[in-house]
Amino acid sequence: GRERTLAVVKPDGVRGNHTDAIKATIEGSGFDIVKEMSLQLDLMTAQILYFEHYRKPFFQELINFMTSGPIVAMVLEHDNAVEKWRKLIGPTDPNKARIEQPNSIRAICGSSTTQNCVHGSDSSAAANREIMIIFKDVQSGEATNSR
Ligand code: CMP
Repeated sequence: GRERTLAVVKPDGVRGNHTDAIKATIEGSGFDIVKEMSLQLDLMTAQILYFEHYRKPFFQELINFMTSGPIVAMVLEHDNAVEKWRKLIGPTDPNKARIEQPNSIRAICGSSTTQNCVHGSDSSAAANREIMIIFKDVQSGEATNSR
């Protein structure tokens, strides 16, 4: 059914002026953009956002990159928004994307596994968590224990 996901144009996407084309793809695919914000992640917010990766060898590179410049965060709404957005962005590795899904967003504007232009939540629960962290607003995620 109707679902929300978090889309982020990462610092490389903003620097490469890909934001407008990405937004056009989002709108052309029928998503409603229910929230949008341009911001630069501070160190703590980036670490909280990516805490599940903190043991990984790429964690520091990921945090350095994600705090390196402005991003554009959007809350997208659609039926099966999580899966639909992940299909549009393509595989995490843009080189793999260029082979397997050449029309995907990461194939077009990504340059490496870290600098892969866009983010998409990998589940509805992750989307709600990430939306609350970035927008600092429980309402834009999902009310918890609302019975
Ligand atoms: P994303 O899925 O948006 O959020 C987690 C990010 O970690 C992912 O995009 C990549 O940018 C990064 N990442 C995941 N795996 C690797 C890896 N093996 N090497 C470098 N970066 C990675």
